[in-house]
Amino acid sequence: MSKSISGFSKLSKSHKIDWIVATYFNNNEDAKNIIKQYWNSNIKLQQLHDEFIENTITNYYLPFGVAPNFLINGKMHAIPMAIEESSVVAAASKAAKFWLERGGFKAEVLSTTKIGQVHVMFYGDPKTLQSFFKHVKPKLIQATKTLTKNMEARGGGILDIELRDKTQSLDNYYQLHATFETLDAMGANFINSCLEQFAKTFREEARLFNGFTEKEKQVEVIMSILSNYVPNCLVRAEVSCPVEQLTENTSINPEEFAKKFIQAVKIAEVEPYRAVTHNKGIMNGIDAVVLATGNDFRAVEAGVHAYASRNGQYSSLTHAKIEAGIFYFWMEIPLALGTVGGLTSLHPLVKLALELLHNPSAKELMQIVAVAGLAQNFAALRSLTTTGIQEGHMKMHLLNILNQFQATDEEKNTLINHFKNHTATHSAVVEAIKDLRLKNNK
Ligand code: MEV
Repeated sequence: MSKSISGFSKLSKSHKIDWIVATYFNNNEDAKNIIKQYWNSNIKLQQLHDEFIENTITNYYLPFGVAPNFLINGKMHAIPMAIEESSVVAAASKAAKFWLERGGFKAEVLSTTKIGQVHVMFYGDPKTLQSFFKHVKPKLIQATKTLTKNMEARGGGILDIELRDKTQSLDNYYQLHATFETLDAMGANFINSCLEQFAKTFREEARLFNGFTEKEKQVEVIMSILSNYVPNCLVRAEVSCPVEQLTENTSINPEEFAKKFIQAVKIAEVEPYRAVTHNKGIMNGIDAVVLATGNDFRAVEAGVHAYASRNGQYSSLTHAKIEAGIFYFWMEIPLALGTVGGLTSLHPLVKLALELLHNPSAKELMQIVAVAGLAQNFAALRSLTTTGIQEGHMKMHLLNILNQFQATDEEKNTLINHFKNHTATHSAVVEAIKDLRLKNNK
């Protein structure tokens, strides 16, 4: 068993590395070199990254790519994407180009409300709790005035607080269920600060409330936290075109393609095993933009998948139909995003990504991110229902395999050319590089 350590966080960066390399890598200098290889020579930039989290020993790079040619509501965008998976950026770019020639994407923000809850246990008469809530609600709002002042000046703030009786689900359980408008901020800090203040005031006022018995005065606050489930912070993205325009690069005719595509979506609507993979493909696009723009992709993931199960069964996020000869493909998803606060002005690459997107408002970013997800799903379904994904995917993966074999530039060029006309399976690539090396050594 490895050794435990106390006071690790207090060690300097190089002492942390020394301890890790001694404890887990048998003092192997190679491990130390790999860690250090990712340090940035710009000391200030490195310090900035060190301070984003705790116990930082190095940086973890992800490729930052760009998918151009996205026409969204009549405006052109090149979309930044941070992702490690090959083919995703290529697929997004391809879908963007395809829809550019067919009127582009339309996107609309349907709502922007976020939610936070104070979870409370109350041991007494629910009616008395209701009358206490009426009495305390204005005090809760008043107590957060210093926190909400700036947000209110910009047009946001607390929209409402409700008392919810959850005792059907759990004995003595109630909630202060609050709704917020946080404008261009993701709002997690704002919401959590308001909630903690609600909790404090709620508990203090309960102790003073004459209508309560001594037992009822002891309301117990379990926790106060925002919800990452935001079904009322919703954006819709859509593409449409006459069925006969669904041509280009498909091995089948447009009508047949449209029918097959719609069946593929319907399968994901009714079959959870397929829906998860279908939605994973959508999240390839969404997470990559969310990450590039410094937003919290775990929050987005959790909220989107909860939304995909809102009717009791996990289902497709996208939908498709043909109506009067027009093919429609669309998606509505919840996205709580920010374009101010958090990493947005702190991380130079995030700042650059937002600049690349013309410094969007949170609503505009919701539209862009949703479009990236829809484009990704279109590209995946187009491949799956026609050629299959492996053909394109393995071509993109080719470089990864060649890099694993430390192929030289010359070897890479030869083999990339070779696989233009051959099926690039993993074993075929391995064989080809071995053959090439044998030949070259002769
Ligand atoms: C791979 O990352 C994503 C796909 O599996 C999505 C899909 O099956 O729809 C291609």
